[in-house]
Amino acid sequence: MPQTQRSVGVVGVGYVGLVTAVCLAHLGHQVVCLDVDEAKIEALRAGRVPIYEPGLDELIAGARDHLSFITSYDELCASCRILFVAVDTPPSPSGDADMSRVDRVVRDVSSRGGERLLVMKSTVPVGTGERVTAELEAAGVTGIGYVSNPEFLREGAAVDDVLHPDRIVIGAYREADGDEVQRLFAAIETTVVRTTVPTAEMIKYASNAFLATKISFINEIANVCEAVGADVRSVADGMGLDHRIGPYFLQAGIGYGGSCFPKDVQALKQLAGNTGYHFQLLNAVIEVNHLQKRRVVGKLQERVGRLRGKRVALLGLTFKPHTDDLREAASIVLAARLHAEGALVSAYDPMVPPGSRVDLFPNVQIATSALEALDGVDAAIVVTEWPEFIELDWNVVRERMRGRHVIDGRNALDAGRLAAAGLSYDGIGTVDDHVVAGEPLTSNEAR
Ligand code: UGA
Repeated sequence: MPQTQRSVGVVGVGYVGLVTAVCLAHLGHQVVCLDVDEAKIEALRAGRVPIYEPGLDELIAGARDHLSFITSYDELCASCRILFVAVDTPPSPSGDADMSRVDRVVRDVSSRGGERLLVMKSTVPVGTGERVTAELEAAGVTGIGYVSNPEFLREGAAVDDVLHPDRIVIGAYREADGDEVQRLFAAIETTVVRTTVPTAEMIKYASNAFLATKISFINEIANVCEAVGADVRSVADGMGLDHRIGPYFLQAGIGYGGSCFPKDVQALKQLAGNTGYHFQLLNAVIEVNHLQKRRVVGKLQERVGRLRGKRVALLGLTFKPHTDDLREAASIVLAARLHAEGALVSAYDPMVPPGSRVDLFPNVQIATSALEALDGVDAAIVVTEWPEFIELDWNVVRERMRGRHVIDGRNALDAGRLAAAGLSYDGIGTVDDHVVAGEPLTSNEAR
């Protein structure tokens, strides 16, 4: 094994943990992955990858000799000194991040004694490093170093984001600990930000909160565009050319979802609140995101009138394309809202088979294809911009639907093609919307 290669442990094989582990193995390190979920570990041992992430299966297959999957902390601690912590920190009822899994890992590791370096990949509130190290010290535990190494990967592009990151952030109490973590990523060419632990923790929260702010900002611009006849896509293009603004995360739509932005924006707001600071801007970011989903229902009502008894298809359920993740997906809110208004909801998503996820979609008929979901519906809403929806034959769609209304919640479709097929089209803040002759309904009918 060349000098730079290390034995590294990764605790938690969710999106962040598994992708981090596999990329470290790809870089040549010997990686031991631990998860308390035996079924997940069994699956990984048998070569089945429990999550869908483009490129991950191939990378695992290529790095098999460098990866092992276990459930025992004794085994983990016997073989690894450096331990990445990548367990989830879901929102708790108070709005703070739930740290119980992270704390459990720290307990399980520290109770086994020995010299360790904990590398925190999980998104944890600013101050976690200070708290954990203080608690270890108070318990008389010595020999455990702590480094904050936040993750910036996006689901659906995770492998590329880890192997070609914009930056690597390393916050350490001891220079040597930071050096050790930096060496693990020596093969990756990028800027390395070396800083303190609280600053590294804050970089993560501030980055996610800023990206979420960009999305809510462009969504509000889109809403104003609708009122003044401007097109938000061109507005975003024009804004994005200014290098101080940049073209990214300015895609207007029905708002952000996923396991990160909703949770992290809330957690940062809460964190600020706990210190006595009222983070006013984040309140607006959250509220705009919430209202953006409701606006789509309002648009639909303008087109088809009362929703009671109307059939509506949701195209896409995952929080974004190229993932199977449904956490905080806009589809969950939309499906529930439409059902509450009395609509009959069908849906199709390439990652969500019929009969699955009744917990999230108890009143949704999940179909095996987009066309099946569109059969006999009065209207369709594009919730997730899966490429196959963009490629749909709209003439065939027109024949299958009972009504004609398509609301493109992601501004992903070609409005002209829908018009040519005789379908009515509404985007979010776009100008090429058109309503099929004889419609819309008057505002009285619409409500
Ligand atoms: C996000 C961040 O982008 C990552 O840098 C970060 O590491 C990750 O959270 C995390 O904290 O773990 P992710 O949630 O996987 O990654 O997905 P994004 O691509 O950021 O999309 C989040 C949501 O914003 C999606 O619902 C997406 O549809 C929406 N979005 C994104 C928009 O509505 N408009 C945009 O312009 C961009």
